Amino acid sequence: MDLIVTADYAALSRTAADRIAETIAANPTAAIVAATGDTPMGAYRELAARRRRDAIRTDRLRVFQLDEYLGIGPEDRRSLYGWMERAFLAPLGIPAARVVRLNGTASDLAATCRAYDETVCAAGGFDLAILGLGPNGHLGFNEPPTAPDAPTRVVDLTPESVASNARYWGDPEEVPRRALTAGMEVLLAARQTLLLVSGASKRAILHRVVDGPAVSDVPASLLQRSAGVTILADEAAWGVNSAVGGG
Ligand code: F6R
Repeated sequence: MDLIVTADYAALSRTAADRIAETIAANPTAAIVAATGDTPMGAYRELAARRRRDAIRTDRLRVFQLDEYLGIGPEDRRSLYGWMERAFLAPLGIPAARVVRLNGTASDLAATCRAYDETVCAAGGFDLAILGLGPNGHLGFNEPPTAPDAPTRVVDLTPESVASNARYWGDPEEVPRRALTAGMEVLLAARQTLLLVSGASKRAILHRVVDGPAVSDVPASLLQRSAGVTILADEAAWGVNSAVGGG
């Protein structure tokens, strides 16, 4: 894993946008799985600005939804698809036909998950995974403990994730308790991964991801065994006095 520590969130977002733009330039039809959550929003805004200046072309990407709450349709304000649509798909002009959804209201959820993994496989795997780090080390909604070969599936959210996600809607009661998540297996196999981490609240878990052993109890630490992983952290997350390792 490579680790890049930036001075602040703005620099983290610009550096992430640079990396994503390089991937898109080299492969305009790249298969990208893109997180919601707060951390990647600055990078997405930066990419949208570059698109408005015609500096990048994004409309031929294939975009995969990372996760979704169970029983929540796209019109629900809590929908992660809706969030992805507002923050990523619409500003980057990616047509719905080029998006692979995880439908939390599907009648056959097992079939939805199987079809998702088959579609990732048919695409040749993810060219790029843009991920955030959960306060408990989750990736997508791969909650601890998650085995490295876990498929795309229905999961129960941990109390920690429910509490953390309550900040998006202001009330823990609003947070659905179950979700669909892209599986650990397809995420760990991505050819390139950007793990974006910002803020002092992520410092302890980030150090477990980077310095600790690769264990299922910290799902993101399993990235240590994958190729092409870059962690982009700001100084608030990494700590100004921590040595930068990586490699
Ligand atoms: C979002 C997702 C989550 C978040 C993680 C960090 O689609 O899958 O794993 O990336 O919880 O969230 P933020 O960036 O809000 O701290």
